[in-house]
This record gives sequence, C-alpha cells and structure tokens, in this order.
Amino acid sequence: MDQKHDHANQILSLLENQESINSLQVAQTIGINHQELVGYLLQLEAANYIITEGLKKDQLFLNEEGNTILNSQSGEYEIYQKVPEGGISMTDLQKQFGIDQPPKQKQEQGEKKEKQVEDPKKKLFDQGFGNAKKMGYIKLDKGMISKVANDMPDKIKQELQSFNEIKLGSPQAKLLIERKLASISTIKYFEVKKGVKYNSKFREQFAALTTEQLLSGEWKDCDYKSINLNAEGEKISMGNLHPLLKVRKQFSQILIGMGFEEMPTNQFVESSFWNFDALFQPQKHPARDAHDTFFCSDPELSEEVDNTLRDKVKAMHQTGGVGSIGYQYEWSHEEARKNILRTHTTAVSSKMLYRIAQQYKEKGYFPKKYFSIDKVFRNETLDATHLAEFHQIEGVVIDKNASLGQLMGIIREFFRQIGINKLWFKPTYNPYTEPSMEIYGYHPVLKKKVEIGNSGVFRPEMLAPLGIPEDVNVIAWGLGLERPTMIYYDIRDIRTMVGPEVKVETVRSNAFCVFESK
Ligand code: PHE
Repeated sequence: MDQKHDHANQILSLLENQESINSLQVAQTIGINHQELVGYLLQLEAANYIITEGLKKDQLFLNEEGNTILNSQSGEYEIYQKVPEGGISMTDLQKQFGIDQPPKQKQEQGEKKEKQVEDPKKKLFDQGFGNAKKMGYIKLDKGMISKVANDMPDKIKQELQSFNEIKLGSPQAKLLIERKLASISTIKYFEVKKGVKYNSKFREQFAALTTEQLLSGEWKDCDYKSINLNAEGEKISMGNLHPLLKVRKQFSQILIGMGFEEMPTNQFVESSFWNFDALFQPQKHPARDAHDTFFCSDPELSEEVDNTLRDKVKAMHQTGGVGSIGYQYEWSHEEARKNILRTHTTAVSSKMLYRIAQQYKEKGYFPKKYFSIDKVFRNETLDATHLAEFHQIEGVVIDKNASLGQLMGIIREFFRQIGINKLWFKPTYNPYTEPSMEIYGYHPVLKKKVEIGNSGVFRPEMLAPLGIPEDVNVIAWGLGLERPTMIYYDIRDIRTMVGPEVKVETVRSNAFCVFESK
C-alpha cells in the first residue's frame, strides 16, 4: 500500500467514531502539513468517502523574534541578569553589551545633517532596557541602575512557552502582538464528515471496467469512479463547410421552403448559345467581349444544338417575331458555338426552359418553380469586392399567371426570410427581360441602399424560340452569394474567401448560417 493510501486510511479511521473532524487537527495527528492533507481530502471527497466544509479562522502565529526568544531568552531578561546586586551605571552596563561610546551626534558644516549611524547593538540594548523597566525588572535612581528584586523569571519567555494555550484577545496575546513577537492571520481549513460512500478502509477506484475484471469476477469487489457527465469531450477533427457553402445551404433551404426545385448546375463550361443567344442577347453585345467573358480554347466550339431550336433563335435575332423586329443583323452560327465559362446562372435557366417546353409537348402545360445556386465566371480585375469567379442564386417561376407584381412579391418574401425587409426596385435593362428591375436593399453595416439583385419578366423574344407557349409567363430574379456571406460572417475582403487565403481555422470556427427573418 502506498503512502497515499496510508494517509487516506489514517484520515478515514480518525473519522470512524466521530461525527466530524477538523483538518488542522488531522494534519497534526497524522504529522503531515496541512497543504498536503488538503490534497488527500479532495481525493477522498471526489470518491464520496467524505464531505468537507470550508472554514476559516483567525489564529495567532509566532514571529521569528518570538521564536528566537523561545529558544534563548528575552532582551530585557538579559539586561536584568547583567545588573549586579549593588547597581551599575549606564556606561558600565552598556560596556557589558560591547557598547563603548554612545555615538555622538555630529553636525556637519553646511545645511545637510549627516545621518546618525545606527549601532545595531545600541538599538537592541535600548529596546531591552526600555522593556526591562516596563516589565518591572530594573529601576533607575540617580544615574544608578539596580534590580527591583532578585531571582525574577523571564516572563515573556514563559508566555511563549505556553503559546499554544494563548487565546486570541487575551492580555497575553495583546502583549505578544504589541511586542511584535506574534501576529494574527486568517487560516483556511476544513470540517470533515463522512460521505455517502464512507468506509474506514480506502479502496482503489478504477476509472473503467476492464475485460480482465469481468472475466475474473473481480469487478464485484471493485470500486469505480463515477462518470463525470459534464466533462467536455475531445474535439473531433472533421470536415467543415466553407462559409459560402453554409450560406448557400441556407439559401437552398429557404427556396425549397418556398416551393422551388433545384436545377442541375453541374456545368461550368457552356456554349455562348445558352449563355447569350438563347437569352436574346445580341452577338455584338459588349458582355460577349473577351474583356468580360472567359472564352475556352480547347475545345473552342461546342456541340451543335438542335437545328430547329438554333434556326428559331437565329430568326428571332435577325428578323424578330412575336411582335418584335429582332436586332436586324447577320447572326453567326459559329459565334453561338463558342465555349465559354458561364457568366451567369441564367444560362442554366434558359436550358431548363427549353427542357420544360419539350415536356409541354408531351404532357401539356404545368407551372413550375426552379432555383439554382452555383459558380459563374467573369473576366474581372480582382479587388476587395470582386472576384473572377463567384456564385449566383437564381429563381425562376413559370406560370400562366406570373406577373411583375408576383415577381415583386416573391422577391420580397425571399429577402424577408434572409432578414432584409426594406427593398427598393429600380427599372433597368437586360436583353432577356422586360420589364427589368434592379433590387436594392438596406445595408445594415454601410447604412445605405446597395444593389442586391436583378430581376425581370423574360421577353417573348427569348421564350418563343425555346418553345414556351405564348400565354405562359416566366419571371426570374438573381443575386450574388458572396455579398450576403460577407455581411453574415463579417468578411471584409472577398479574396480571403477563395484559394490559399482561406484560413482553415476560420472555416472551422464559423457558426452555422441561420438567417433571422424579419
Ligand atoms: N442574370 C442576371 C445577372 O447576372 C440576373 C437576372 C436573373 C436578371 C434573372 C433577371 C432575371 O445579373
């Protein structure tokens, strides 16, 4: 049995026939210091063998000088002993203590007084002499010092010898404190009582049940540590969603909640046809310039689209239809086949609309709500708010009754759910929508209106070639994912969200995105 067990058992046996014990006494009885005992007490308490109650009290402590006197004698008593029967002069008495000349006070020339050099022997003597008089050992009469009585005891030493019995507040205690031989300080200790698992013998507590203990049956006699249900588990290292993905997920949830279905977006490379031509965007439009769009070199051209579709789109651009005169230019088949990195998710929507129109041929008309969230690319100069690749969120409603009012209502509801309820609409121009509206929201940090999206009613010139019946309207809106993410996670520079600038630690520590709807 190790020492720890010995001490634990000693403590427990002290408690065996007693209601409670005092840790100060226990430390004395066992013969260890109180600090060490407290360690054992805490362990025993953790194992429910005991319960402790913290207490404190003021106690008288012997100072160093008090200890010195206890081991020899007091200064006044030393003086008393050196005074002979017939008395002695001050000078002679001082000589007995090795003090030859009482130091004279020297006065220096000038203003400065030289500090009197204090002789430690003299200081001690003066102190002892004063006390000897006060305690009634000696008297001073006409320059002669004599004993008051013979065979007096060293009273202070006697007090110190019974120091442990001196009560706080007693005249003895006051005397010792006044003489700076003792002082009062507060000590902390414990009252110890039996705990729910009290046993006079300490049994080892196992942290876990082992196979061996089970097989041997030893477990029946073992004590086990209780499980700390409040302990924190070890941090698990696992994957975490990037802030953009956290916000993206939340946007999907909202749109799904509003009855939208997700469109397949898994195609970064798109033909100019779906990204521009099918959207009634003229081939000379500046957005189709290499300054704004990334063109692919290999393969440079995409596969052919359905010829009928292609010819319908071509005719709409060149000569128009559905009440429009088109753009009146020579449409290039090759230009439409150029592969690009899609510049907006509306490329996904145009393709989807064509697919829906195909289905209408078989099944007839049905309304539909779609959304997409994915990456798009633009040949931008990078700065704190612009990247060459970013994400767009797009919603599309295909419905005979779809109107501008419905579009505004859906947009309001969508933004309400991400916590933006102050919206402004401003007319704008898109080649593929008419009317078109920019969406502005109130930026809580910048405290001003900022553009947060774009929207509109798809033009008949776009819908007719795709095969959408004339009486079916399509309304749509789009917005970026980066800006709301930056606001939500307080990200100041967009460039820290992609590539090597991304801090894994930040990604780990960012909370889930849950928008507060207004
Ligand atoms: N495609 C537009 C953009 O990139 C957004 C938009 C989507 C506008 C749908 C109208 C309708 O800004």
